[in-house]
Amino acid sequence: MKEDEKSFLSVMNGIAVIPPPVWLMRQAGRYLPEYRALRAQAGSFWAMCMDPQLAAEITLQPIRRFGFDVAVIFSDIMTIPYALGRAVRFEEEKGPSLDPVSSASQLDDKREVWRHRLEPTYETIGRVRTQLPRGVALLGFTGAPWTLATYMAAGRGGDEQRSAKLWGYREPTSFAALLELVGDCVAQHLITQIEAGADAVQIFDSWAGGLPDEAYSNWVVQPTRKVIDTVRKTHPQAKIIGFPRASSLAGYELYAAETGVDGVGVDTGVPTRWLLDFSRATVVQGNLDPLLLVTGGKAMRKGVARILQEMRGKRFVFNLGHGVLPDTPVEHVAELVRLIRAPP
Ligand code: CP3
Repeated sequence: MKEDEKSFLSVMNGIAVIPPPVWLMRQAGRYLPEYRALRAQAGSFWAMCMDPQLAAEITLQPIRRFGFDVAVIFSDIMTIPYALGRAVRFEEEKGPSLDPVSSASQLDDKREVWRHRLEPTYETIGRVRTQLPRGVALLGFTGAPWTLATYMAAGRGGDEQRSAKLWGYREPTSFAALLELVGDCVAQHLITQIEAGADAVQIFDSWAGGLPDEAYSNWVVQPTRKVIDTVRKTHPQAKIIGFPRASSLAGYELYAAETGVDGVGVDTGVPTRWLLDFSRATVVQGNLDPLLLVTGGKAMRKGVARILQEMRGKRFVFNLGHGVLPDTPVEHVAELVRLIRAPP
């Protein structure tokens, strides 16, 4: 690989790289003192997402400190419900809340309106682009239609998908209309992020787990496939990772085969041995337990070594199985990066 090539993009193009590229979901966030300082200044998390200058600075913080191979745009999946016209609130230590939706007709369906509300993210991408070190890829992202629908139906997270499932089971046609409209907005958001300068994009389906067969296909796989088809109509070469968190192994396989993604993020519960097989079907990204990163020391080193050994020379991107936790010591993250890049 040439010096100035982006190792992450090489892997996304199907070429294994040793050592594997590394980035972490939620690599910008409360575990970083420099993030907490800016947040205290800005007043709120949402204000930071909507301020391109701050969002660009926060995107670059973990790159400067740890030298990750990927910078992930600082934003949130809740920008999509916001673009669709719902008021979004983030209360201290509680996560998002929004006014619950019961029909797609309650949502704004105009592309220009979506674009206007999402503009801060596109501007952030433009700003980060000009400051990004060579060799570091820029990753945009979105929530998947299903995960966004779970928040929009309940008005908050953490109800174990109950509201969205009941809606989908009781009124399949009306729920399909919701997924369709959310999916249109998601696809437009990905297209515009790519046009603004994102090298690749990730689709977060955090609540994909625990769905029966048919629901997994109708609510996770098919809507994601539709989003990706739409993106590829204008950007056939777009690099796309999907993260259908907590899917069954059969679910992950179906997702890789049917959605059109280039790579699949896997959660902590997926056995390392199985990843090896899976990497023949797709680029694999994951899956160290975020709590091993909190733990550090021997336990972390053992977990990291196991993944590195198993996935060496495979089409693999090192990441966690879910986001960095706020109580993660920064020294553990620095050590993680050293371990991955240390000569064998
Ligand atoms: O990965 C990154 O560094 C990029 C930024 C990013 C954030 N959220 C910033 C954030 C990304 C990729 C997300 C995705 C996201 N947001 C998901 C999908 C991934 C996942 O975690 O399952 C979801 C479900 C959300 C919605 C969301 N945003 C929740 C549930 C919460 C509260 C939980 C928490 O950790 O506080 C947020 C807030 C949030 N999003 C923070 C950050 C840095 C914490 C905000 C703060 O208090 O400073």
